[in-house]
Amino acid sequence: MPQYHVLGSVPPKRHTQFRKKDGSLYSEELVSTHGFSNVYSLIYHAHPPTMIKEVEKSYSVKPEIAYEKSLKHQSFEGFDVKPEDDFLKSRKAVLVNNDVHISLAAPRKAMKDYYFKNADADEVIFVHEGKGTITTIYGSIDFGYGDYIVVPRGTIYQIKFSDENNRLFIVESFTAIEFPKRYRNEYGQLEEHAPFCERDIRRPVRLETHDEKGEFKILIKKEGIIYPYIYASHPFDAIGWDGNFYPYALSIHDFEPITGRIHLPPPTHQTFEARNFVICSFVPRLYDYHPLSIPVPYNHSNIDSDEVLYYVDGDFMSRKKVTRGMITLHPGGIPHGPHPGTVEKSLGQKETKELAVMVDTFRPLMITKEGVGVMHDDYYQSWLE
Ligand SMILES: [Fe+2]
Repeated sequence: MPQYHVLGSVPPKRHTQFRKKDGSLYSEELVSTHGFSNVYSLIYHAHPPTMIKEVEKSYSVKPEIAYEKSLKHQSFEGFDVKPEDDFLKSRKAVLVNNDVHISLAAPRKAMKDYYFKNADADEVIFVHEGKGTITTIYGSIDFGYGDYIVVPRGTIYQIKFSDENNRLFIVESFTAIEFPKRYRNEYGQLEEHAPFCERDIRRPVRLETHDEKGEFKILIKKEGIIYPYIYASHPFDAIGWDGNFYPYALSIHDFEPITGRIHLPPPTHQTFEARNFVICSFVPRLYDYHPLSIPVPYNHSNIDSDEVLYYVDGDFMSRKKVTRGMITLHPGGIPHGPHPGTVEKSLGQKETKELAVMVDTFRPLMITKEGVGVMHDDYYQSWLE
């Protein structure tokens, strides 16, 4: 959870009169979580954020499930997902459960004629390819290769890309995305042993106040339905805000790996946590330095977790036939491990250049029809010698 931040102008005392140059009042909005009991921000709008002109016909974007239950290792060719002009249409959910939706997207164009709000999920948008800017009422964040962009639920945003070559790995979390509790002290500060710290967190900058009235379309997603709302004021009309609830970016390249003499398990790579799942970053690092160490992981039965690995770049010592953008799914209940020959090959190796994002869920994932469209159904036999 990021620290307190303030951008733009706010009144010296909260919930008091705060006036524009013309003498009229700014509209204060409290954006709060867990009722009124957890992190929040206060926003000062040029106009009330409540001026709804119209609500257009809603439509479903609920993922269609192909396999509700299965117990099979699977792999997916992520870069086979077809690029699409529109950002929202480009998002293809491949693995889902009640805690998390995992999507792949290859959007070509900037969002122009609408804004988007995910009303019930925090989004972690991992940028595999592409760069651009995400703009919100809290300001803008420039992003590029390797960034995790964390957008808390309820944040209206618009994304612009520098060109048409973009590949995103998107995690929607139906509870708050947080930094692991063991990385934080009792005051919420990231501790010395954490693999990243506050300096690595990139907060919104360049707050632009759009004091505009007119018609502004905001596509609001709630429980798999898109509700097109037409508001009478610009969604980015803040003169200032403060608090702990805002979007931020963290680069996977700023994650400092924790290494040891013998193999360390995935929690050392943990980056985020939410209800019933974690997100981990596997980054280039020196291998284990015990003289008899085996650098690749042992076979493991992570009996309570489905393990999703998204391969970004570099070599993957424990796997054969890995492509960029590939996803593997290793469900809880059956063991998996290094591919044949990779243990011997790893002996004496000093470092790995691998870059990957892992999502471990504590409840089983369902595979969508979009997922099946890019799936290799014979992956489960890839350990045969
Ligand atoms: Fe694993």
